[in-house]
Amino acid sequence: MRAVMLIRPAVERDAPALSRVLLDIIAITGRMRPHDPDFTLSHYIANRDSVRCSVALDAEGTVMGFQSLVRAVPGNRYDVPEGWGIIGTHISPRAHRRGVGTALFAATRPAAVAAGLPRIDACIGADNAMGLRYYEAMGFRTWREGDGIVQKMLVVTPDG
Ligand SMILES: CC(C)(COP(=O)(O)OP(=O)(O)OC[C@H]1O[C@@H](n2cnc3c(N)ncnc32)[C@H](O)[C@@H]1OP(=O)(O)O)[C@@H](O)C(=O)NCCC(=O)NCCS
Repeated sequence: MRAVMLIRPAVERDAPALSRVLLDIIAITGRMRPHDPDFTLSHYIANRDSVRCSVALDAEGTVMGFQSLVRAVPGNRYDVPEGWGIIGTHISPRAHRRGVGTALFAATRPAAVAAGLPRIDACIGADNAMGLRYYEAMGFRTWREGDGIVQKMLVVTPDG
């Protein structure tokens, strides 16, 4: 069943909700990672290289997930070419496979076009089958892999 939702830009007060989404994901994957509200604020919502950070809300206004798009700067963690976009998608497991990631990307892609990004990189764990399948479904294709990481890339075109 598709989730009822609203997609809007993330704002500062969403930081705790983004943190909860990351905690929900940690609970099922067992993979610890930075997640506290200070981190979600500085890393996603108020990142100075941010192009767009969107949240998806359910009918009750609860954040189900978020997607960030930042511009790659020199020295970025995964050696993405400068000027490309770097995307991250995080959906609470309670809302998986209900079209939330698809709806978020429908907001992110035009933001990439508007920002003039030539390509978008997605960095995914090689053992993360759902992440790999999701980005494939959004049109991304593998351009580099190694050390347990798969990097998928989308060429940004105005018409999709
Ligand atoms: C990967 C993730 C972002 C997908 O979000 P989602 O809201 O569940 O995705 P959608 O429901 O929009 O699915 C879109 C398409 O992606 C593919 N897909 C998504 N999850 C899948 C899964 N578990 N198995 C197979 N295909 C999957 C399907 O093609 C799906 O279309 P369909 O349902 O019509 O077949 C979400 O599962 C998530 O946040 N996982 C934890 C964090 C993560 O892995 N992030 C991404 C990599 S860093």
